[in-house]
Amino acid sequence: MTTQDEAQARTGGLRARVLLLPALVVVGVAVTGILTSGMGAAASTSHRAAATTDATQPADPITYSLPPSSDIATGQNLFEANCASCHGPDAFGTDRAPNLVGLGAATVDFWVSTGRMPLASSSIQALRKPPRFDRKQTLEIVAFVASLAPASVSGPAVPHVDLQGASLATGNNLFVLNCAGCHTVTGAGDALADGYFAPSLHRATRTQVAEAVRTGPGNMPRFGPGTLSDQQVADIVAYVTGPIQHPDNRGGLGLGGIGPVAEGFVALFVGVGALMLIAFWIGDRA
Ligand code: HEC
Ligand code: HEC
Repeated sequence: MTTQDEAQARTGGLRARVLLLPALVVVGVAVTGILTSGMGAAASTSHRAAATTDATQPADPITYSLPPSSDIATGQNLFEANCASCHGPDAFGTDRAPNLVGLGAATVDFWVSTGRMPLASSSIQALRKPPRFDRKQTLEIVAFVASLAPASVSGPAVPHVDLQGASLATGNNLFVLNCAGCHTVTGAGDALADGYFAPSLHRATRTQVAEAVRTGPGNMPRFGPGTLSDQQVADIVAYVTGPIQHPDNRGGLGLGGIGPVAEGFVALFVGVGALMLIAFWIGDRA
């Protein structure tokens, strides 16, 4: 072999290695992509499976019920200890807080189960916070307040939402039409006029979503049965507690679903890190 041949063979080998590199990177990225989107798909399938409904058993989309009257006595004690100072012993209201008589069980359950009541500070708007009472105690308080007025002249009882047969597609449309204007399409919430705000919908339970829709807490409008049927409310509940609270990832790892910060972090450290390693490797060879 002449020196020229040798030189040619060396550059040939170098060129092959230089071409091999991008190919390896492409394969690596593709494999990682397939693996992670596989995991993401598996996760979202299992979540969808949980939400899948068996349409063979028709059921009322929403059943409204009052806690048993045996809860009233304990509820009265809880009310006197935790609510009467503001709402008055008979819940007729004082100069510190509004009348509760006749509002209905759903309203009382919403405000107590979301932790808004008992009110902690007199901010412009009561805030969602960890509830002070467990489910049993909450229903006892609800039973007491509901007992103060006949059910026939009161607001709705506590809704139990059955998602069997609920349509996510209809829920999506109804949500965009009726709710997204205040709560945004992702349900993250947004500021309203005069310092009020529409809160995030990411923590509300099925019952709480239906209660909010049917009772219209604070500055939120009330959607009665003439505006949205029980089936339509159930569709909205399915959409809020489904895709809104557990957004499907468009492939790839969810990275905890906490958004651009985690994604940027991974892009920076994994992506730039890999590029630097490759750069060093090429540098070494050359
Ligand atoms: C520190 C005073 C205070 C205490 C204690 C308190 N509340 Fe309230 N409550 C208020 C005020 C003020 C409002 C009006 C808040 C608003 O509209 O944002 C209110 C609103 C409510 C509403 C909504 C009324 C409506 O018209 O929609 C319900 C229901 C309610 N309270 C129930 C309770 C219950 C039940 C308790 C006890 C577990 C309780 N509250 C304890 C001050 C209080
Ligand atoms: C005009 C604006 C507006 C519209 C439209 C609206 N909301 Fe609201 N929503 C609010 C406000 C304001 C609150 C907070 C009330 C308070 O705490 O005083 C709220 C509270 C809620 C809550 C309680 C969240 C929590 O975790 O505490 C839920 C759930 C909710 N809305 C669902 C809906 C749904 C579903 C729709 C559509 C059918 C809807 N809202 C339409 C303004 C709106």
